[in-house]
Amino acid sequence: MNILVTGGLGYIGSHTILELDSTKNQVIIVDNLANSKIDVLKIIQQISSQKYDFYKYDVTDYYLIESLFMKYKFDTIMHFAGFKAVGESVQKPLTYYKNNLLGTIILSELAIKYGVEHFIFSSSATVYGDQQSPLFETLDPKKTTNPYGETKAMSERILIDTAIANPGLNVTLLRYFNPVGAHNSGLIGENSNGTPNNLVPYITKVAKGELKELSIFGNDYDTEDGTGVRDYIHVVDLAKAHVAAMEHMKSGVNIYNLGTGKGISVLEMVHAFEKINALKVPFKVVGRRPGDLAVVYADVSKAKKELQWEAKLTLEDMVRDAWNFEKNSL
Ligand code: NAD
Ligand code: UFG
Repeated sequence: MNILVTGGLGYIGSHTILELDSTKNQVIIVDNLANSKIDVLKIIQQISSQKYDFYKYDVTDYYLIESLFMKYKFDTIMHFAGFKAVGESVQKPLTYYKNNLLGTIILSELAIKYGVEHFIFSSSATVYGDQQSPLFETLDPKKTTNPYGETKAMSERILIDTAIANPGLNVTLLRYFNPVGAHNSGLIGENSNGTPNNLVPYITKVAKGELKELSIFGNDYDTEDGTGVRDYIHVVDLAKAHVAAMEHMKSGVNIYNLGTGKGISVLEMVHAFEKINALKVPFKVVGRRPGDLAVVYADVSKAKKELQWEAKLTLEDMVRDAWNFEKNSL
């Protein structure tokens, strides 16, 4: 199979490439390095002992991307490329709409034009808005609350409509919950430039001494210990789900939640990190972060049944691997 992986040098794309069997697949990577480094290419080639065809192209550049469709006969597109920071999307909505929507539109157009069989899209639990957990794979997600989330909901819509009008194209929408952790080599992981917004990258920076203390956003939620609950999934499990989605491709449009199905609170995460890595994470409790929900977790039975995939790695694996990568990175 020829697989086009957009955003392949980013956090989730790079882990996914390592899970693809190189005896059966040729991987072609496109990434404009907007949020990644070229070193990741060398590292994944070193880990897998493979050579990947890499193009520093922008997925919003129709003609450059078309040149790749003319060169390779792609069977599958895994579209990871996009911007992902919720806060930044509120400040720069057009940057987000342009990058995330144009990328999806151009790749969809080229998928049809060149007869691609399968389009796998990186969606997000954010498309559920404030619906009650556990979340099931509804086709009519509630309205999202920020431009980033809106780009995911709109990209899903674009892909669904495209697949309906073009039955030769099969679309899989993967709704990720909270990806954390890193490859067990400790060589690739989440690249967090500047101060991280997400919980686990923030914890690792505090553990490293680069940030003074973690602010826990509220301990007055209606949860067991009062802190927010999320469905964290190890990035390697998430990567394996992409392989499962490819191997168990179904016709038409199919949507899957990718999480563990289990909620973990902020305090549970902090304590697990401290225990497994034998270090302290100083924290203080501050007010709630605007827009945060108390509890978000997935119903994952559909992916288990149809993709024969389920998350296997534990909370301990997540915090150990996240720290192992952070320790190794400069
Ligand atoms: P990432 O930023 O690490 O990776 C995205 C990659 O895409 C980067 O390497 C970046 O350089 C590249 N890119 C961005 N715009 C591009 C463009 N126009 N052309 C070519 N390359 C471009 O992010 P990630 O965490 O690996 O996320 C991958 C996908 O999964 C994104 O679409 C993201 O929205 C989605 N997602 C991520 C999370 C999460 O928490 N990480 C959760 C839900 C969904
Ligand atoms: N949290 C803290 N302190 C921090 C950071 C986070 O207490 O410094 C808490 C949050 O309040 C929340 C939990 O940790 O309860 C997880 O927060 P994250 O920012 O790590 O993740 P979110 O669930 O808020 O957001 C993630 C992705 C978004 C996506 C969203 C919806 O980052 O891209 O899930 O699924 F839109």
